[in-house]
Amino acid sequence: MATIKHNANRQGRSSLLLAFVGVVSFLLSQNAQRGQVELLSRQMMEADGFVQDAPEQGQAKSVDSNNAVGSDLLQEPQYTLNDPTMRLSPYVERPWLHFHSDRFPHVMDRPKRKLILTDIGWNHPNKKKGLAEFPRSLLMRELLQAFIDHPLFDPTFDWRAMAEGRVPVDTSLEYVVLMDIETCFESNYPVNVAQFTANADTLMGRVVKDKGQNPCYNMNGCGKQLSHVLDSPLFQQVNASTLVYFNCGGSGPGRARKERFSSHKISVVSISAGPDMLNEDSDMGMPPPAIHPVVLSHKQRQSIINSCDSESDRNRPYLLSFVGKHRKGSPRKELVQLHNGNDVISMRTPVYVDAQKKGEFNETFPSLLRKSKFGAVPRGDNRFSYRFTEVLSGGAIPVVHSDGWILPFREELVDWSKCAVVIPEKQMNQTVEILRDITETQRCRMRRYCYEVYEKYMVNPEANIAGILDSIEAAHHGKATI
Ligand SMILES: *[C@@H]1O[C@H](CO)[C@@H](O)[C@H](O)[C@H]1NC(C)=O
Ligand SMILES: *[C@@H]1O[C@H](CO)[C@@H](O)[C@H](O)[C@H]1NC(C)=O
Ligand SMILES: *[C@@H]1O[C@H](CO)[C@@H](O)[C@H](O)[C@H]1NC(C)=O
Repeated sequence: MATIKHNANRQGRSSLLLAFVGVVSFLLSQNAQRGQVELLSRQMMEADGFVQDAPEQGQAKSVDSNNAVGSDLLQEPQYTLNDPTMRLSPYVERPWLHFHSDRFPHVMDRPKRKLILTDIGWNHPNKKKGLAEFPRSLLMRELLQAFIDHPLFDPTFDWRAMAEGRVPVDTSLEYVVLMDIETCFESNYPVNVAQFTANADTLMGRVVKDKGQNPCYNMNGCGKQLSHVLDSPLFQQVNASTLVYFNCGGSGPGRARKERFSSHKISVVSISAGPDMLNEDSDMGMPPPAIHPVVLSHKQRQSIINSCDSESDRNRPYLLSFVGKHRKGSPRKELVQLHNGNDVISMRTPVYVDAQKKGEFNETFPSLLRKSKFGAVPRGDNRFSYRFTEVLSGGAIPVVHSDGWILPFREELVDWSKCAVVIPEKQMNQTVEILRDITETQRCRMRRYCYEVYEKYMVNPEANIAGILDSIEAAHHGKATI
């Protein structure tokens, strides 16, 4: 039985393979010499385990003498991913790896966009130097890994060879570059303790430095590295090149760049920016990561996405909810005064914990958001709040009290007016009235748009990178795409 089945499988695979080889041969026949086709077919058969024997000397020679391919085509591409703590996910299809040799560019469509890293810091060719000299926050590690795991990332791009002019730049491509240096210093993520050491990447003994010692944690100290990138042949020659520069600074750092770097080729992605801090041609807001993301059941998700009806509202008895720390000078003081113990739940953390202990209020933080129509997002020390993403994860609609905060991504990509309710801080006491005026039908549409944006661009770091790349593209074409 086993043998018969095995043979049948093998036959099926053989004919499939032959069909595939046939198609490729046809594709190649117009432009390629016969030697190329033979070698490619052979490569595929070898890869499939069909050819056990090594090519004979004479054959290899005749291929070489056709001046078409050398033995290098049988070798792995040369990776230039130098950070020993980073891995290329095996689950990502990477079109650029098919083009590490430019001998078969016509086998498939070449992507128009390429994602690359520099080699200034973490990706320094001296791996020990990258580990010993360049600290990294866990947030930045997540974003870097997501960038590397984007299908259009090219792990063979040799920044140094390009920078030194040893390899030409392909000016027909759009490049998106991520600088391999800490620029997104957020000391409250993923552990909410405001300490860099608690939120630093220590894998393989990577150096942990206080932010004061890291010259590039804000843009004031980063001029040399930025110049190195902007003066490179790639940025000099390719108009459609963009340096994605994360800025997790609270309020100040973005300003310096506007004075010193007005290049539209830098896209600053800022977690806490106000309108005065951004270059409106190229910069954007950054989605805060969720410290406590909520997971919805399949049924809850379906009712939001598919059937925009009262179902998605029915199981949300609370109009508005908020639980959080109460800061001096933030709108949170007034926010907790909106609490009515009925459909508006707005409590300082100690009050909430106390009510839980006494059994007076039994909703957990996730269950509260899953049962809320709206979730408050008041600013904290800075304009941004993790609540924004947490509220979205619970399928609630964010109500933002943070004057001037630039919401995530480019406005050409995400139209937050279709989802978030932004209320000026000085109108905090009108919040409940404003929310009661929003009809069930409107809520339903808002919730659906919110959750679509959340799943597409905010649910994890990969989604964040997708949102940033789509933003850059939408900014070029000037229209909303979601
Ligand atoms: C390069 O981009 C700038 C800004 O978008 C534009 O004004 C300029 O015309 C472009 N140059 C070329 C050669 O495409
Ligand atoms: C909360 O749970 C406790 C324990 O199950 C129960 O005794 C109490 O009545 C509940 N409180 C409310 C407000 O439902
Ligand atoms: C809100 O507060 C302002 C002053 O702080 C007051 O004039 C106004 O009447 C209040 N509105 C409501 C609806 O309570």
